[in-house]
Amino acid sequence: MKKINLKNDQLQIYKRENSKVWQIKLKLPRQKAIRKSSGSKILEEAKKTALGIYDEILNTKKYAFDINKSYNYKKIHLVESKKLNKKEIECFLDESEKYIHFNKKTIKKSNLLEGRSIFNLFFEDSTRTRTSFEVAAKRLGADLMNVALKDSSINKGETLLDTMTTINSMSPDVLIVRHPEEGISKKISKTVKACVINAGDGSHEHPTQALLDALTIKKKFRKFKGLKIAICGDIKHSRVARSNIEILSTLGCSINVIGPKSLIPKDIQKLGVNIFYNMKNGLKKCDIVMMLRIQKERIVGIHMPNEKEYFKKFGLDYKKLAYAKKNAFVMHPGPMNRGVEIDSKLADDITRSLIQEQVTMGVAVRMACLEILINNRDKYGK
Ligand code: CP
Repeated sequence: MKKINLKNDQLQIYKRENSKVWQIKLKLPRQKAIRKSSGSKILEEAKKTALGIYDEILNTKKYAFDINKSYNYKKIHLVESKKLNKKEIECFLDESEKYIHFNKKTIKKSNLLEGRSIFNLFFEDSTRTRTSFEVAAKRLGADLMNVALKDSSINKGETLLDTMTTINSMSPDVLIVRHPEEGISKKISKTVKACVINAGDGSHEHPTQALLDALTIKKKFRKFKGLKIAICGDIKHSRVARSNIEILSTLGCSINVIGPKSLIPKDIQKLGVNIFYNMKNGLKKCDIVMMLRIQKERIVGIHMPNEKEYFKKFGLDYKKLAYAKKNAFVMHPGPMNRGVEIDSKLADDITRSLIQEQVTMGVAVRMACLEILINNRDKYGK
């Protein structure tokens, strides 16, 4: 039998030995396979028909908002990764798949969340997270408000919880919160009626970043079990490291953390990771090397090596990457400090670096998060 994959393993055309006409098989995640005749003996015609059917199905059925949809993730908030089980993580990743395709369309607009109000509440700087939530919300038809917190009444002495109560009175559907205080999103989720998403709370957690990292890895490797992942740099102050350790370990990856002693907390061992203080040993047999920025804004009372010295020991360049597996990939949640934790040329090398792919996956994951949480809130209420 001749078989040709058109959209990874989701869309195939095939021809049996005794048949002249190409057949189509479409298998979307968590759906029954659809088999159809292309009606053509000519390969190019059959491909065109198959791709047309694929687009039609993704454009119609898949984007219909199903208020009765039952997800494996049943909560209305997403505030931490550590309590997510494998099925819940897979639920976010599976629901993101359709948005990867959706985001490649010319017209990227759905009315899935039409009339819903989503608030971006960022008390710390952000480019990727804030923008990708805004893109995600708008592509799903929701109204997104970026609250300018630098000019808010917090400057006049209003407490954070009073600000949240005020916004809660405007009947929001989702609050997306980034704040330097650990655990603040969880606290807010207990006082408001809206869904709350933690977009980074101090050095604690950044669950949607870890989900988008997992989706990026899934698209590259098609599996998690058996993968060895190195997370390198300032582990102590990194919410990205903590959320990734939780999510990637639950999915079956083994994790090495690498960095200077002063930037690796002792209690990180409790999370089941292997600790290394040099890149040569830590990168051995790794499939992915995830680099982290030194979080200068959170560092107090620790002697910091100068940037040149740091790059020499812990900065990733082609030479150090060669300690990992032959075709290992590089990731970085951003923002990057080129020449400090990562060599500039390597960061831009699309044959090795998944950094831009991570940003692309970020929009898909955040669309899935908004869909799931709002759907759950409609279904289960507060
Ligand atoms: N990765 C990440 O959280 O980036 P931003 O700080 O730009 O949102």
